[in-house]
Amino acid sequence: MRQVRAEQAKSRVPGMSGPHPQRGSSFYDRPRMSERYGQRRHGGVASPNTVMEEPALLRELGAVTGLDVLDLGCGDADLGRILLEAGCRSYLGVDGSGAMVERARARLRGSVGRVEHADMEDFTASPAGFDLVVSRLALHYVDDVAPVLASALRWLRPGGRMVFTVPHPVLTCHDARSASGRPRQDWVVDDYFASGPRQREWMGEPVTWHHRTVEDYVRALHGAGFSLTALRECAPHRESFEGNEEEYARRRRVPLFLLLAGARTG
Ligand SMILES: C[S@@+](CC[C@H](N)C(=O)[O-])C[C@H]1O[C@@H](n2cnc3c(N)ncnc32)[C@H](O)[C@@H]1O
Repeated sequence: MRQVRAEQAKSRVPGMSGPHPQRGSSFYDRPRMSERYGQRRHGGVASPNTVMEEPALLRELGAVTGLDVLDLGCGDADLGRILLEAGCRSYLGVDGSGAMVERARARLRGSVGRVEHADMEDFTASPAGFDLVVSRLALHYVDDVAPVLASALRWLRPGGRMVFTVPHPVLTCHDARSASGRPRQDWVVDDYFASGPRQREWMGEPVTWHHRTVEDYVRALHGAGFSLTALRECAPHRESFEGNEEEYARRRRVPLFLLLAGARTG
């Protein structure tokens, strides 16, 4: 662990801010990173979030009318905008990146949605205050998800749900550098069962992602006290691709996202 911390410290960039500079959220405080991420994330059919992760997530969430929602690692809180429009009663986004929090607050201005600047490991809330805890593509920045999931269970009312997505473990296992510029056509799966941190390149910059197997995530949910209610691999559906058959065919080749959901039954 000490060696991992040292490696993370080496990859720090001067000027990074945030509650814990070594944590994943600080990556998004690098110059122009939140803006670049936003362009990629909201890139239409070219964005796998738009064509794979988001449709699967929204299908899994179902009706959100009247729900109190907490979003861990909310980024620009685009999900907050969607869920508030869909009738959720309240939305609280939490993010460790100051740049992301700024964007999130701008996005939610004029709504009842709120955003708190905190790393999810440090965030606290009253027990049983939420119906839904969601986290999109943020838990792979956290080195130990057990306490985060245990807290999420406490923050949920009985019957409440935790739904999260992460990059699919077949992607996080290998620390391959991304191919230069061109749409990627192949992926390397290696060291799959060696769970732990990986130094890798993401949007052209070094970052630490924490690799976990599918089984690790399921075990973590169970260990926190959740009943597993869904496991999805966010397969693409043709109707999301606006007629772009080539992109649809490409996205059918490799799973990019894993979605898990658990319920607080007691
Ligand atoms: C890939 S982005 C996803 C953002 C948003 N959920 C979305 O779907 O667009 C990851 C987000 O998680 C945040 N993050 C990473 N580690 C975090 C932590 N330990 N606590 C809180 N936020 C964190 C980052 O700042 C970033 O905004």
